[in-house]
Amino acid sequence: SNPAGQAHVRHFLRDDDLSPAEQARVLDLAEAVKKDRYAYRPFEGPQTVAVLFDKHSTRTRVSFAVGIGELGGLPLILDAGSSQMGRGESIEDTARVLERQVGAIVWRTSGQERIEAMASASSVPVVNALTDEFHPCQILADLQTVREHFGRTAGLTLAYFGDGANNMAHSYLLGGAVAGMHVRIATPAGYLPDPEILRRAGEVAEGTGGSVAVLADPAQAAAGADVIATDTWVSMGQEDREQRIADLMPYQVNAVLVSRAAPGAVVLHCLPAYRDLEISAEVLDGPHSLVWDQAENRLHAQKALLHWLVSVAGRDTPTGDG
Ligand code: CP
Ligand code: NVA
Repeated sequence: SNPAGQAHVRHFLRDDDLSPAEQARVLDLAEAVKKDRYAYRPFEGPQTVAVLFDKHSTRTRVSFAVGIGELGGLPLILDAGSSQMGRGESIEDTARVLERQVGAIVWRTSGQERIEAMASASSVPVVNALTDEFHPCQILADLQTVREHFGRTAGLTLAYFGDGANNMAHSYLLGGAVAGMHVRIATPAGYLPDPEILRRAGEVAEGTGGSVAVLADPAQAAAGADVIATDTWVSMGQEDREQRIADLMPYQVNAVLVSRAAPGAVVLHCLPAYRDLEISAEVLDGPHSLVWDQAENRLHAQKALLHWLVSVAGRDTPTGDG
């Protein structure tokens, strides 16, 4: 295909790249894709989709490979370090090579500025498969999981416990605000969310009826929450493991914390989980936990996103709401 023909290419680099209406549309699609797994074929041909990794992955690697195949395409999974990028070829030059041969580019990397550079040089959609700052595909799967359980996202309270400055905290803030949720981040001083992302999430929440808050007291954050979420205390690329464990232990998601949440609260963890650190084994493996549905929903949510980017958004006018 001629990349220059894609005039209105859309990327998904952070959670607020989808408007509230667009996010709802993608989540509707995710539900439909899950019900009829082979009904959507945007990459029939087959077209190839490049999936690049600068960091470890199990779920993201598997769900994109399986999903792209189910969408009629061919996944090209590359360790970016073994491409010429690993020897210093620029991100922009890599994008120029890829865009003429693939239908979309999915990338897990470190700095957000790296995926922004890829998108700025690419005429095919670029999807963030995790950066240091955001993990927006994960939040789509989490929102799908919440919708399946509660029938909605808007108005529910999601409380996240642990590292308030990592990709999951930032994406819960932004993606939860887009979804009209009340997002609480429970974290100590030294782990506070990026102030600009917090400000932006608050602005988005004003328009959707949601809200955002950062709390130091885990009991207060858990009180009455519908969704309890956590993530590893030591993200990929971080080194101060023992200090982080010591600082974040008061924010462990355990049975006492969950007992403060709303009756019928559910527990999310993007995985991989470290039992009895950020989450007790009892809670992770217990009746409140939806983590395996959450991991499966990566497949459906990402298929919906790719279909939307390629077949819906790519054909809309720039002012269309998709
Ligand atoms: N949740 C998540 O992104 O898992 P992986 O690191 O295994 O892809
Ligand atoms: N915050 C974690 C998420 C892993 C899926 C990390 O970045 O390592």
